[in-house]
Formats: sequence, C-alpha cells, structure tokens
Amino acid sequence: MSTLVFFACAQAVDQEDSRPSAITWHQDVAPLVAQHCSSCHSKNNIGSFLQFSDYSTAKILANLLAEKVQSKEMPPFLAGQTEDCQPKHSWKDDPRLSAQEIALFVDWAANGAPEGDATNPAPLPNPTTKHLSEPYTVLTPDNAFTTPSEQGIEDEFICFVLDPELNQTQWIQALEVIPDNTKVVHHVVLFLDNQAQSESLKNDQGWYTCFGGSGTGSTEIIAAWAPGTPVIEYPENAGLEIPQGSRLIMQMHYHPVDTAQTDQTQLHIQWSQTEPSNETMVVLRGNNGSLGSDGLGLQAGENDNGEAEFRIPANAAAHKETMRIEVEGGPNKSYQLFMLGHHMHYFGTDMRVYVERNTVKDNEDADECLLQTPKWDYNWQLMYFFDADNNNAPIVRGGDILRLECIYNNTMDNPDAVKALTEQSLTAPIDVGLGEGTLDEMCLAAIGLTIIEE
Ligand code: HEC
Repeated sequence: MSTLVFFACAQAVDQEDSRPSAITWHQDVAPLVAQHCSSCHSKNNIGSFLQFSDYSTAKILANLLAEKVQSKEMPPFLAGQTEDCQPKHSWKDDPRLSAQEIALFVDWAANGAPEGDATNPAPLPNPTTKHLSEPYTVLTPDNAFTTPSEQGIEDEFICFVLDPELNQTQWIQALEVIPDNTKVVHHVVLFLDNQAQSESLKNDQGWYTCFGGSGTGSTEIIAAWAPGTPVIEYPENAGLEIPQGSRLIMQMHYHPVDTAQTDQTQLHIQWSQTEPSNETMVVLRGNNGSLGSDGLGLQAGENDNGEAEFRIPANAAAHKETMRIEVEGGPNKSYQLFMLGHHMHYFGTDMRVYVERNTVKDNEDADECLLQTPKWDYNWQLMYFFDADNNNAPIVRGGDILRLECIYNNTMDNPDAVKALTEQSLTAPIDVGLGEGTLDEMCLAAIGLTIIEE
C-alpha cells in the first residue's frame, strides 16, 4: 500500500516540474564545474585551492559547492547590483552563474549528489583559457622572491621593478600575468612609473615592500590581476602609452604558507609600435593621501563638523566618505570608458562610482551608477571591463561629475579590520585616515578611458 502511494507522488512531481527529475554530476553539474570553476579549482591551475573536478571529491563537497554558488561568493566577481546601483552596461567575461545554473548545483546537492550515467556524460566545455599570441615581450623580475615559512603570518606586499627597455614610446595592446608559484601568489597590481622613480627604491634584489600603492609619487595604474583574470586587452583602436625610459612596477600580494616558497611571476606584453587612433589612459580619481589637494573633491559628511575630512572614526560601522570630481575638459570633450576598478583597504565594505551628467544624450541617465562592489574584498581587486569594442560602454563628458561613495566598517565585527589591527598588535579599533598603510584607507577609482572627441 505505502509503495503505491509513494509512486503516485513521485509521478505527480515529475509532471509538474519542467526540470529533469534527476540532476546528476555527469549530465548536469560536471560541465558547469568545468566551465565556471576549473580555471581556479583544478590541478593544473591554482595549486593550493580545493579541487573538485572528479565525481568522488565533488560528491563529498556537494553541499559546500551549493552553498558557495548560492551565496554568489563563487565564482569570485565583486561587481554587483543593489537597489542603489543598477549598472546598465554588461561586463566582458562576466563569469557569474545564471539563476538556473545555481539551481542545478543546489538541487543536485539536495538530492544527495547523484552520479548519473558515467558511460554517457554530457560533453565538457573546452577550457576557455586564452593566451597572448606571439610576438610578445617577457618581463621577468631580476630575482625570485622567497616567502616566509609560517602559516598565518602577515601577507607580503612586494613591488618588483621591471624595465621594458624601451628606446621609444610604445603602447600596450594586451598583457598577461603568468603566475609562477600559485601556492602563494594572491593578486597583482601593475603600475606605470614613467619617471623611473622606483629605481631608487629597490634593493639589490630588484624589489621593495609596498602595500596600498606603488610607493612612488608619479604612478598610474596599468592593470590588476587575480586568479582567473583572462588576458587583459585594451580596446581595438586604443593602447596604453608607455614612454621611453619608463619602468613597470609589479606589486605582488603573497599569502605565505607553512613552507618557504619562491616565486618569479612574469609579465607578457603585446606592444603596438604605432600610435593608436584614440588616446587611452587609466586614471585614478578619489583619495589616496598623495594625489595632491586639487583632485580630491571630498565632501563634508558624517562626523566631519561641517568641514570635509577623511576620517573613519573608531567603532563606526557604516561610515561613508563621498567625493565629487569634475571631469576635465569642456562639454565637447568626451570619453568612452572601457574599464573600471575600485580600491580601498581592509576597512572598506562597499563602494560605488556614479556619473552625474551635465548633458544627457540618447539613452543615458542623468545619474548613472557605473560600478558597485557591494561586498568589497581587498583580496579581489579586479578590473571590470565594459564591451567598448561594441560601443556597449558608458560615455562621460567634460563638466560631468564623477561621484565616489566609499563605505567602511571600523569595528571588531569586520574580520578584515580585526586582521589588520591584530597584525599591529592592537585589540580595539583606532581612527583611520588616508594613507598607504594597512591601518590607513583610500577611496579610489581606476578608470580606463579613451578620448573619442576633443
Ligand atoms: C577566479 C578563481 C575562482 C573561480 C573561478 C572559482 N573559485 Fe572557488 N575559490 C577561489 C578562491 C581563491 C577560494 C579561497 C577563498 C578565498 O580566498 O576567497 C575559493 C574557495 C571556494 C570554496 C570554499 C573552500 C573552503 O575551504 O571553504 C568553494 C566551495 C568554492 N570555492 C567553490 C567554487 C565553485 C563551485 C566554483 C564554480 C562555480 C568556484 N569556486 C569558482 C577561487 C575561485
């Protein structure tokens, strides 16, 4: 009797539910893992990460995988949207899973992670990893760096000085970071040092320590890289100008592990010998404590007593600093953005960049949110690319206002703040101001743009 009832129920569910009744590893989940997870979580890639590309491991981890995709922590991509910010342009190489794909992980785990038919698996997508095509220049630090050998000790931030030995101006068309020791390489920020100031900072091994910036006064950002970042390409008609005599500063963020590790991460650069038709720049706007007083645009806000001050009081849980910065040039000067990135340190929790338009054309909004990173994480300083080659990218004009909003949590409820304080042997929050140290903050946007009309 009970068997009959059971069958009757199962059939009813099958008819109502349009999804296949059994979601399995070989038929449904393995292709998603291959496409969306394996660039980091597989043997050939970032060695110290969890690996789950085979059924026997994935089955054990099924609930954890489902949890991480459902919370959208995985795959890591911090650009998000909230009620305050609905970016209207899509991102190039957006790795996020669709709601249906997330549901497949969740339902599969909830059903006990069935294996399915191993003799008839769904085809696995080819790895999408793309590399630079020849010719390119290989830049290698003079010496390998050895990380200390204790787990749980502070992260290391090392700036390597790389000399591309240019005897004339050239333009970077594309670049690729080739991580060497993936057990310890966490992320990389690349700066342009067009005055070669970093030469005087480096030791006889060719590097110096640095944290929030490059440690030199005159730097521009070129790119940021984290595991999973594809080849970085500037738009077709654009390229980043590197004057003769410049140095590139490669800031490495290392996570030491329990054994000493050496690393000699390389940079591959594809140059354009001819000047691109559109002038391209990556500019930094906002506050980092050393951009000079004219570009700051800091607004008076909470805890400021009427005068603008960048100070995050101890124990403030959602302190906001706002900057309004006018875009240079007259209303006829227009720029197409191709890339945006955010930068804060360990106290930051949420950041947004808006454009307040002076002239509003076609489908544009007067107040447009360009990028929000609602769960800011210092460990994932990614650059987000618009599809500028297909004109699916925002335009800003001289006289428009860029508005940056940075939100900080300076309490012991913020695990990153606790980590930064503990490293300095502090047990309670202190007031945080601007600067390059781990107990200082910044609110910066890196903006990649091409000038499209003078
Ligand atoms: C761009 C690289 C990258 C991609 C792609 C990626 N992950 Fe991760 N994943 C990480 C890193 C790095 C960590 C370690 C946590 C951290 O540092 O934030 C992690 C951690 C995890 C963890 C937690 C491990 C633990 O010990 O708690 C799970 C589970 C996970 N990822 C699942 C996935 C799944 C499922 C996918 C695909 C849908 C995926 N990840 C895609 C980089 C990636």
